[in-house]
Amino acid sequence: MQVHPTIAGLRTALQQATQAGQKIAFVPTMGNLHDGHIALMTEARAHAEVVVASIFVNRLQFRPGEDFDAYPRTFEADCARLRAAGVDHLFAPDEAEMYPQPQQYQIEPPPEQQSILEGEFRPGHFRGVATVVAKLFNIVQPQVALFGKKDFQQVMVIKNMVREMAFSIDIIDSPTIRANDGLALSSRNGYLSAEERAEAPRLARELKKVVTAIRGGNRDYSSLESAAKQALTAHGWVPDYVAIRRKSDLQSPSAHESVLVENLVVLAAAKLGSTRLIDNMEV
Ligand code: PAJ
Repeated sequence: MQVHPTIAGLRTALQQATQAGQKIAFVPTMGNLHDGHIALMTEARAHAEVVVASIFVNRLQFRPGEDFDAYPRTFEADCARLRAAGVDHLFAPDEAEMYPQPQQYQIEPPPEQQSILEGEFRPGHFRGVATVVAKLFNIVQPQVALFGKKDFQQVMVIKNMVREMAFSIDIIDSPTIRANDGLALSSRNGYLSAEERAEAPRLARELKKVVTAIRGGNRDYSSLESAAKQALTAHGWVPDYVAIRRKSDLQSPSAHESVLVENLVVLAAAKLGSTRLIDNMEV
């Protein structure tokens, strides 16, 4: 695996692949890699001859007071995992390389996509994500890029950006990888104490209960959302939201409209101690 700290170095290396007519698949990450990230690398290999990963903790998508400074940086271990997964190129710029001056041109997702759910609790987050992903797409120029459904709203924002901005890139979304007890893998799980780690799978269990209830015919969505929030609160969580939404645009299924339950997803975010976890399940 070649490691490229600079845009120029990466471009030179990828030119050869492009000239040879090879397809490039790209997996952007913020590092501290776990099996969820590695599953994306493995899937990338099935789509292209050349697999490019990136590691960059993107300041633009963190708000002041969030965990930008504390975000786990484990570069050597990440490189070993990427090498073992057969990744060809790693783009690992520092901040001066990505943002040599303040990034004044940014991608602004529409309010109905960036101000709901995660965006309500992390204002500006999706502007930061869309901006860095667009910049990375321009740097890597892949034909295919892979994202995890763990961050369901992120994939929606990126798919819409790619369509509206006419990026010539296929966006592939991959299933959420979970620990044996159901907890969705996340770099933030490392913040949990042993006690919190034992409690953490409740988030997925509550989502699963909502999914099962909907599949069983329950259409009282607001009661299902409230019950899940209450169950979390009763066990020490502070939920930001539990929301039953349409997969296509993450808007609420209106009471008068008959949305097929297969087109719904249940999303949740909640704090356990000082750690904020998110998860979702498709019905
Ligand atoms: P990061 O949180 O490092 O995640 C990188 C990719 O891995 C994202 O597409 C994310 O959805 C996926 N992923 C994380 N946990 C997963 C799991 N348990 N199962 C499947 N996929 C999982 O998401 C980001 O970084 C950033 O916002 C980024 C897109 C890199 C832009 O900075």
